[in-house]
Amino acid sequence: MDKSRPIVISLGGSLVVPNGGIDTAYISQLNNFIRKKIDEGWRFFVVVGGGATARHYIKAAKKITGEISDWDLDFLGIHATHLNAHFIRTIFKDIAHPRVILNYEKKIESLKEPLVIAAGWKPGCSTDYDAMLLVRDYKASALINMSNIEWVYNKDPKKHNNAIFIKKINWQGYEKLIDKKWSPGVNVPFDPVATKMAKKLNCTVYIIGKNLENLNSLLEGRDFKGTVISS
Ligand code: UTP
Repeated sequence: MDKSRPIVISLGGSLVVPNGGIDTAYISQLNNFIRKKIDEGWRFFVVVGGGATARHYIKAAKKITGEISDWDLDFLGIHATHLNAHFIRTIFKDIAHPRVILNYEKKIESLKEPLVIAAGWKPGCSTDYDAMLLVRDYKASALINMSNIEWVYNKDPKKHNNAIFIKKINWQGYEKLIDKKWSPGVNVPFDPVATKMAKKLNCTVYIIGKNLENLNSLLEGRDFKGTVISS
């Protein structure tokens, strides 16, 4: 991968807060990994998701009110991403840009730090879309989507045990596999709103799960496990 341009990582909240508790062991490994790669000259934007925190609040609000708008549910998710992003930014305080990106219209001018942390912004999408905005605005060399989903499958592997993983797919093919309509807290490899934008920008997205050795292989241009979605 091209080291001279930044890499955008969409860090699924499922890796930060898998089930209500923070995965400190994983975040410690991530901390060491990112620092090592920065020492080697890489630069990163890390967009942090809401994970179980987002889904718990969304579920609770639905249960209590019975009737609630997607807009309100999305805002609960957005606040969860803000908390998780501040947590990650605190860990990297000595090397990260001081401002967590919460408003994507305020572009960072003459960025000096090798690492920037970002979070959710507006309702109607997930942090996958925010990660796409960073690719566009900071001329990143790649978008790497890390979450508890390791591959794109030809059908939902939770429902079909004969689902087959896909190594390479184009955006048209990927669009056919997912629900086109946005719904708050949805768990898909890459969200439909971000997909639309990636298709328009001819962007390549790597869906790779959580393994950091695997991430290293991808960065270094070696064989890796995961799905490449491109034009
Ligand atoms: P996330 O993007 O945090 O999903 O959005 P996640 O938890 O990381 O998902 P995984 O781990 O990749 O599967 C959480 C929720 O926050 C709202 C949406 O409701 C989304 O489902 N959100 C997030 C927005 O409305 N806008 C944003 O820009 C980001």
